[in-house]
Amino acid sequence: MTRLSKRLSVLPSYPMAEIPALKRRLIQQGVDVIDVGAGDADLAPPRVAVEALARAARDPAMSRYAFQLGLPAFREAAAAYLQRRFGVKCDPFTELHPLLGSKEGIAHLALALLDAGDVAVVPEPGYAVYEGGTLLAGGEPYAYALTPRTDFLLELEEIPAEVIRRTRLVYLNYPNNPTAAVATREYLARTVAFCHQHDIVIAYDNPYCEITYDDYVAPSIFEIPGAWESAVEFHSLSKTFCMTGWRLGWAAGRAELIAALARVKNYVDTGAFLAIQAAGAAVLPQAEQLAREYVAQFRARRDAILPVLRAQGFEPDTPRATMYLWVPLPEGLPSATFQRKALEDAGVVVLPGRGFGAGGEGFFRIALTVAAPRLVEAAERLGKVLAAV
Ligand SMILES: Cc1ncc(COP(=O)(O)O)c(C=O)c1O
Repeated sequence: MTRLSKRLSVLPSYPMAEIPALKRRLIQQGVDVIDVGAGDADLAPPRVAVEALARAARDPAMSRYAFQLGLPAFREAAAAYLQRRFGVKCDPFTELHPLLGSKEGIAHLALALLDAGDVAVVPEPGYAVYEGGTLLAGGEPYAYALTPRTDFLLELEEIPAEVIRRTRLVYLNYPNNPTAAVATREYLARTVAFCHQHDIVIAYDNPYCEITYDDYVAPSIFEIPGAWESAVEFHSLSKTFCMTGWRLGWAAGRAELIAALARVKNYVDTGAFLAIQAAGAAVLPQAEQLAREYVAQFRARRDAILPVLRAQGFEPDTPRATMYLWVPLPEGLPSATFQRKALEDAGVVVLPGRGFGAGGEGFFRIALTVAAPRLVEAAERLGKVLAAV
């Protein structure tokens, strides 16, 4: 057998990897599957994006290598959005960098910052790429459990001093996947101060900043005084504009940190398809208006499913942001058991909390990715599963 690298052997299997095959098998058996697993809504991307992509695809210049520079108009549109939306000023060419979806930047930043033995603090439950990127870079992930005790906030002061001494990086994600928690400015300010004091870089993962409800407006970390020194912020077109498959996002931050990320990327990719960057440049000037339209749909879905879930005996909080419901399970019921029963007995794909790390046990996640009547049907089916366990 081929000997694989040690770093690969410590990598946990990717949480959602087997779901598409399982789902396909059930559909082939004639099951009416409702998939509220992946955070990938069924809504169409903005027309302006589709038209810009179609136009750009006809231009042969757009078929050339993008390289790390990419399309200047995309960089400029992203910088203009940050300035308009958050009051954050950054140079589009030295303090901002296009990504092939934010996932790759999140993973690659670890390669730029971590040496063997360096710690990255990762929230658990959390996006699997924080841990995976750290392990692939030879770093040591330190999992911090996000629980209701701290309102799902990652409290760095609680981590042992010996670990903090070796910590170079912390991944923070608010509005949060999967818990849907949001962070107060007071929390962000003390976290920025802590990281500054301990020379820790914050990878602030902000793909859900536009998906907010009920007057809540999510900030950029750079609105917090001093954050520019310590943070790199990741943005994505995936969730806000239902463009998950297009693979487009960006990182923003201090030139030194952005240059370090770009150095890694020079050796692993040659930039996102320029025509997709042209589509991004067309979408971002209208970001807030487009987001309002999508959010209205997510809000209607949220408000349709919540009362039905509660009537079925579940007790989820009402999320103020994201497209997720983080639903507690009865004490002692493993989330993997519930997920398997939901799929096999009820044809509903949900994600088990355990799939987001051990700290996610006791919960499951529903994504608001299908129309309201299907969400209601999913909630009713899940209620039957709960009643039968
Ligand atoms: C918290 C979080 N960060 C980043 C991403 C990656 O988004 P993308 O690579 O599509 O930009 C996701 C996608 O699920 C996510 O949930």
